[in-house]
Amino acid sequence: MTILAIETSCDETAVALYDKSKGLLAHEIYSQIPLHQPFGGVVPELASRDHLKKTIPLIKSTLKRAQISPKELKALAYTQGPGLVGSLLVGASIAKTLAFCWNLPAIGIHHMEGHLLAPMLEDPKPKYPFLALLVSGGHTQLVRVNDFADYQILGESLDDAAGEAFDKVAKLLGLPYPGGPEISRLAKLGNPDRYNFPRPLLKRKDLNFSFSGLKTAVMNQVNKTPLTLQIKADIALAFQDAVIDCLTEKSLRALAQTGLKTLVIAGGVGANQGLRERLKALSKEQGFDLFYPRPEFCTDNAAMIAYVGAERFERGEIDENLAIQAKARWTLQKS
Ligand code: KG4
Ligand code: ZN
Repeated sequence: MTILAIETSCDETAVALYDKSKGLLAHEIYSQIPLHQPFGGVVPELASRDHLKKTIPLIKSTLKRAQISPKELKALAYTQGPGLVGSLLVGASIAKTLAFCWNLPAIGIHHMEGHLLAPMLEDPKPKYPFLALLVSGGHTQLVRVNDFADYQILGESLDDAAGEAFDKVAKLLGLPYPGGPEISRLAKLGNPDRYNFPRPLLKRKDLNFSFSGLKTAVMNQVNKTPLTLQIKADIALAFQDAVIDCLTEKSLRALAQTGLKTLVIAGGVGANQGLRERLKALSKEQGFDLFYPRPEFCTDNAAMIAYVGAERFERGEIDENLAIQAKARWTLQKS
């Protein structure tokens, strides 16, 4: 039951092949980072044009790598949203065209459901129900995952997503895009006693986050300090510590409020080593189970889309027709 998946929601073109009984057969990621880096962020028009160039060659090379012919496929999964609409439309158009040519069903997948369930690609896998801390460039959410397709958003960022804050602070420090990995690298050289930034909403009992005030606090500091490498590292560390404090504290609160004993970290910011280390220590200290995917499955990839595609295909949840549809905004929670 092999599923081919296409992911083109932002600045990575990715293709994967997944079979429920055999697992992940192959996955490839083509990153557009060098294309966008001179502009300091993703340029949507350039992103869609590049997806258009790269998706079909990537499908061919992934099939070749796994030595699978299109005749062996059972369905095509593709990221239907949320994301950059032009980029999503490229993936959706290619998926629907191939579905027509190869006489296969197509399955539109929610990008964040992919991130949420990426830990299912690893061994051991988390068991339902669990709490997920979903932290990416566009989302910061605490989600109660009752079962497959049964998600309840318990809290989320009221302004910037955690990844967005990493990217903006990196820009303030003159670091290249994407900022998360750069801040994380630089923070390792930082002095933890130099700066102390605010932890927004930390004292509030609810499970929401806010990162825009933290970003402004960093900006005010940057404006009054000559940016030597050491000062940049000290600011990076203090900023990262503040984000990690907010994410971990609210996760612990959500575990306590729900009585859940398993925490999953997913999404690009989940690749942050400082966040992983802090949660690993807390899981031992407080006795909850912690799961997170390998770093390449935290950031955008098609393996996670193929996993969700296989689960939906098994349940008969396929697109009703070949209409090409992309959803720039789309909530994970059913109303
Ligand atoms: O999940 P993702 O690849 O794409 C979205 O769906 O948004 O997340 C990308 C975000 C970017 O903001 C990037 O800076 C951040 O994840 N990121 C990190 C790290 N690696 C990627 N943030 C902190 N530490 C990292 N190591
Ligand atoms: Zn993503």
